[in-house]
Amino acid sequence: MVSRVIPVDPFDLVIFGGTGDLARRKILPGLYRRFCSGQMPPEARVIGAARADHDDQGYRDFVRDSILEFTPDGRDEDGLERFLEHLHYVAIDATGDGGWEKLAELVRDDVVKAFYFSVGPSLFGALAERLYAHGLADRDSRIVVEKPFGRDLATARDLNATLAEHFDETQIYRIDHYLGKETVQNLMAVRFANVLFEPLWNSQYVDHIQITVAETVGVGGRGAYYDKAGAMRDMVQNHLMQLLCLIAMEPPARFSPDSVRDEKLKVIRALDPVEPHHIVRGQYDGAEGKNSYREDAENPRSLTESFLAMKINVSNWRWAGTPFYLRTGKRLKARTSEIAVIFKDAPHSIFGSEAGTHRNILTIRLQPNEGITLGVTIKEPGQGGMRLVDVPLDMSFADALGPDAEDPPEAYERLIMDVIRGDQTLFMRGDEVEAAWAWTDPIIEGWTTRGEAPKLYDSGSAGPEDAQMLMHRAGRRWREIKV
Ligand code: BG6
Repeated sequence: MVSRVIPVDPFDLVIFGGTGDLARRKILPGLYRRFCSGQMPPEARVIGAARADHDDQGYRDFVRDSILEFTPDGRDEDGLERFLEHLHYVAIDATGDGGWEKLAELVRDDVVKAFYFSVGPSLFGALAERLYAHGLADRDSRIVVEKPFGRDLATARDLNATLAEHFDETQIYRIDHYLGKETVQNLMAVRFANVLFEPLWNSQYVDHIQITVAETVGVGGRGAYYDKAGAMRDMVQNHLMQLLCLIAMEPPARFSPDSVRDEKLKVIRALDPVEPHHIVRGQYDGAEGKNSYREDAENPRSLTESFLAMKINVSNWRWAGTPFYLRTGKRLKARTSEIAVIFKDAPHSIFGSEAGTHRNILTIRLQPNEGITLGVTIKEPGQGGMRLVDVPLDMSFADALGPDAEDPPEAYERLIMDVIRGDQTLFMRGDEVEAAWAWTDPIIEGWTTRGEAPKLYDSGSAGPEDAQMLMHRAGRRWREIKV
């Protein structure tokens, strides 16, 4: 299969925080890959803007090093030098006057203008204000903002209000990089482009749904941020919530930004408050020379969770009675993310009790080895009666679609190109983010006022024992965390 690359319109993309970690690891290597694939037009320019005192050449040298470090398999020295020619740099003072006139002169009027706020949210207001003051916030310009988008409903509202002073909602692109993952979009294709699944996609046929995002890394190196966030703010309020929405939402009328986001918003608003006994918080312990969470976070008394498992009810006609189980954590036994739709037993078994109980399970693997598996029950081969066995109908995208699927654009690449194209479908709308915080806030308040300490779990395990109990109490089991 040959993938189609459609070049985007000429653009000027200004990256505030152009020397920061996200720019080095994701944004600039991502742009380089899009350049190599032929999607970046010759007139496109990327303008790094940060406090450091570089000139264009200094910035190009800096970006070259970042790309060589973070795109080791994609080196093409000639291509890299040609990409670097698209780069410029302006030393800027986000809260003062320095650099703004130069930036205003540099940015062209006749191309798409995008401003990536790859900086802490405390600078969003100052940047928006200055873009406006220097005539850069016109109707065609776009701003891209990163998570964390607030730390609760009140701060998210403030941020939305600050941005809205100078930018219309149609100009604001709030990134949740999970929405840029290939399989996450495939989830929508599978649901809405096949007639097979949708009739079964409800509480009549689905017993429950499991969403797991397991990581092996700890929080070392970013403990100061993480200790104030925890798994709830870092992963659940945004990434897992988005996955839940895409699974649970009604079919939108079309694949357009507001149709999709309206449906996601309805799901968030239909979430019940979560009962305390449906929440398990965990914190990893040290093992075999590895730090404990508290050592990584440099906070010996930290009560922050590095693991969270929850049972969630979506109170609407489609899902009443079918719980969604969410689980995410650091330092678990494997790095794996998947969504599993566990269907109900067949209403009547004609094969008798000896055949055992068998369930269809649809698994959507986000990483690694992206793909979809449908577990079906068949007869075990051979003589001796009707014995049943579960086998996977397995579709690894790499096997099914060939080499292009082995190397799909990374989430950031796709999302940045969507900004240039002006397509907001895979970005969060302001009301969606606020609704997610409105659901999250009382849960965090609950465990904070109860003074609950997270349960310790061993590094390299599947999380605290209580998380298993959350399932067992309902006669269910988590799927194994494995690659
Ligand atoms: C980030 C979180 O948003 O997502 C990190 O802040 C987490 O804590 C990361 O590790 C996971 O992203 P991915 O793409 O590696 O699954």
